[in-house]
Amino acid sequence: MNNFSYERLHSNLQYLKLNTIEELLDNYLEIAARDSKTTMEVLDYLFEQEKKHKEAAAIERRMKSAGFPVKKMLEDFDFEFQSSIDKKVIEDLATLRFVHNAENIVLLGPPGVGKSHLAIALGIEAVKAGISVHFTNTGNLIEGLKIANREGILEKKI
Ligand SMILES: Nc1ncnc2c1ncn2[C@@H]1O[C@H](COP(=O)(O)OP(=O)(O)O)[C@@H](O)[C@H]1O
Ligand SMILES: [Mg+2]
Repeated sequence: MNNFSYERLHSNLQYLKLNTIEELLDNYLEIAARDSKTTMEVLDYLFEQEKKHKEAAAIERRMKSAGFPVKKMLEDFDFEFQSSIDKKVIEDLATLRFVHNAENIVLLGPPGVGKSHLAIALGIEAVKAGISVHFTNTGNLIEGLKIANREGILEKKI
């Protein structure tokens, strides 16, 4: 590759915000030449890495903006300990069909039985699936709606 192509390639990768490819390119081209990789393999590898990085960054952004008070995962929920919950029902909810169908889930029970844990865990599943999530509690929700109402932007807030 001549110097002009090399520099234009790097500058185009920056322009297109393909930062991971730009970072990996020089090293990977050397490795690819050494291991006689095909053009298809090189392109596939580089774009796969770019996608993975972008996906991870987007998940991190959505995790932050969701405002979960703690991180609770579905894998950490002990279904044997909480025998009143059917694991299959939660696994079905984790498919997130309810989000796409605009349905609500209500988790009812005394304090400390894992309602928030499951709510957060399902929220995290949604974040991982590319959905924007917002965590709130009733107090904050009502307060936020009251303020929005006073400011005449209730509809927008809802
Ligand atoms: N079945 C369970 N498996 C694992 N952790 C649980 C389980 N039930 C409750 N916990 C944990 O106990 C604590 C209280 O649960 P939480 O979800 O806040 O209860 P709730 O919202 O029902 O009051 C949390 O740290 C939660 O992770
Ligand atoms: Mg709770």
